[in-house]
Amino acid sequence: MITFDDKRQIWALHTDHTSYGIGVDRAGRLKNLYFGGRLPGDSEFGDPNFGFPFGASFDPPEGQGQFEYPTQTGMYYVEPCLKATFADGVRDTALVYHRQEQTSANGIPTLTITLKDTYYPLLVHLGYRLYEDCDLIERFAVIENTGETPIMLEEVLSGIWHLPRGRDYRLTHLAGRHTQEFHLYQDRLTPGRKTIESRRGNTSHQANPWFAIDRSTATEDYGEVWFGALAWSGNWKIAADYSPTTLLQVSGGINDFDFAWVLKPGESFQTPSFVGGYTREGFGQASRNLHHYQLRHVLRDTADPRPVIYNSWESTFFDVHEDNQLALIDRAADIGVELFCIDDGWFGQRHTDHAGLGDWTVNREKFPHGLTGVIERAHGRGMKFGIWVEPEMVNPDSDLYRAHPDWVYHFPNRSRTEARNQLVLNFARSDVQTTIFDALDHLLSTYPIDFIKWDMNRSFSEPGWPDADRSQQREIWVRHVHALYDILRRLRAKYPALSIESCSGGGARVDLGVMPYVDQFWTSDNTDAYDRLSIQEGFSMAYCARVMESWVTAAKHNVKNRDTSLEYRFHSAMMGSLGLSLDLTASSEAELDQMRRLIDQYKQIRHIVQFGDQYRLLSPRFGDTSAVQYVTADQRESVVFVSVQLQHFQDLVPVIYLRGLQPDALYSVSEQSQPLSGQALMMRGLDIRMAGDLKSKLIALTQISD
Ligand code: DGJ
Repeated sequence: MITFDDKRQIWALHTDHTSYGIGVDRAGRLKNLYFGGRLPGDSEFGDPNFGFPFGASFDPPEGQGQFEYPTQTGMYYVEPCLKATFADGVRDTALVYHRQEQTSANGIPTLTITLKDTYYPLLVHLGYRLYEDCDLIERFAVIENTGETPIMLEEVLSGIWHLPRGRDYRLTHLAGRHTQEFHLYQDRLTPGRKTIESRRGNTSHQANPWFAIDRSTATEDYGEVWFGALAWSGNWKIAADYSPTTLLQVSGGINDFDFAWVLKPGESFQTPSFVGGYTREGFGQASRNLHHYQLRHVLRDTADPRPVIYNSWESTFFDVHEDNQLALIDRAADIGVELFCIDDGWFGQRHTDHAGLGDWTVNREKFPHGLTGVIERAHGRGMKFGIWVEPEMVNPDSDLYRAHPDWVYHFPNRSRTEARNQLVLNFARSDVQTTIFDALDHLLSTYPIDFIKWDMNRSFSEPGWPDADRSQQREIWVRHVHALYDILRRLRAKYPALSIESCSGGGARVDLGVMPYVDQFWTSDNTDAYDRLSIQEGFSMAYCARVMESWVTAAKHNVKNRDTSLEYRFHSAMMGSLGLSLDLTASSEAELDQMRRLIDQYKQIRHIVQFGDQYRLLSPRFGDTSAVQYVTADQRESVVFVSVQLQHFQDLVPVIYLRGLQPDALYSVSEQSQPLSGQALMMRGLDIRMAGDLKSKLIALTQISD
């Protein structure tokens, strides 16, 4: 619900459990008044004219103001959301309130507050979409040039979240590297700025655009948490500025590193959304709110569960050809796989990672019948068919590069840095966009392909576009992402049944920006079942299990040499969207039988995992036992995955306290002979026996009485 008190010029944005207040001060400036638990009315927000009592020339009151969209102006020194240079060279933007509008689209109340510069022809439209059922606000800004001369934008963030003045604030964020994405870090904030960001052109393995702030005491279940996630797949930044006066503000959006955008007369620039929320129920609820938002409002098709996928990568790598894929198709179908995907290696002269990227035609030596042979077999065996592509890249050893060496990002007089023997195509160019869209369109219209895995295997370098006007050179970071979204959008419009996986050498393109255009993410190139527990835990902080593709791979697979049982590997992968990538032609009948049984079991419980509420019961960060629970919305079914990594002599598994059940209802528990009440399962917990290293259990619960 959004209300506006015209007389006091105060807006109240109420979700089910939170309130967000905005007001206009005497000088016409827009201030944030409140962001926290739900307040009963609108009269109790703070006063927009509240100022700090300091009189020092170094600390004027306006410098302390909690501006709703701060700009570079006056004596404001914290991170501005907007930095612009007008045609006459003025680098100061002074915004005052202009007008407001309230609308509703698909039941989502939306507020637009428009600010205008006090002198120059510049409007800033601040958008707020309210997801009341998820306790989330989605914010964005649109900058409009209503004048006759260009305006240079040097920083345009999506928004800033103000927290109450206070102490003991702690930042939780996700960081890592290739094969170790989504690791959780927590730092106590001290005065100064902590920035998490990507400058690599993609979302990155090194950091993910999600944050949470608490007062250093929140747990999974209790405590105040402010949190947010950015919907952007290019260079991004989230900065937490904590001042010695105990103000804390978290700003975020497109990274201003090497960024500039020429806003021509009559044009607008829209920022990506920054989704934010608040809860008093700890990190667990913060995550569930984001999961609900994704399942209810962001993802396109959520009626059916994601299929069980077989992917050829960790079985045949680049050595894909019709014969070995047909053999795998048959084995995959036999054990209950629902979608068969051929990964890298099927096109051009792609025999290793040295050649072929850019030439999206089937290699007829490997596939003499084109893809028809394998697709017909997969479809004939009742499976969908998918194919791997990496459309943003080119190997110098490719027909595409030989024909168009200027189609990659580069600077004159500088070498072109290759990574994995490839260069990044300049997606800002319309001729590149057309060529790539046409190549994909040709592939999808020639063959009945049901799924593509869109990969992206290097970070940017030499981000130059020599043919473009000098003033536009720094726009490539943003134009690239716009082109990516546009191609995905057009593919989905033309092929509505096509589903898409976003991959970037594992999880370097997992974010809310690309999520509306894809159906799932490749989580990490690290498929070691034990390592995955921490990666998956970090992933779950921000993203729902349905979109988290997880493969069962060979015990001693290519990344780590750890030997784990098939059951342990399955249980680890069953916590998301189950997939497999191991050589099924080398598996024994007994192993295939076990896989069939486990896949079948996953199909029985996947609606709980993919649509249910997730509870992180025991973190792999803090001990050798970890446990994750999922509960259906009606609380009738639940599943718990318990993993023991290393067990000390005579150690017992800790009691596992369940969550999210109906206290008065009775549940049958697969591990216990007697049914137990929800209350007992949550209060007394589950006492289970497990012995040995790298062991796991799947415990299923079903309500047997109300
Ligand atoms: C990186 C991906 O993350 C892998 O799953 C695989 O598709 C390779 N690229 C193929 O080159």
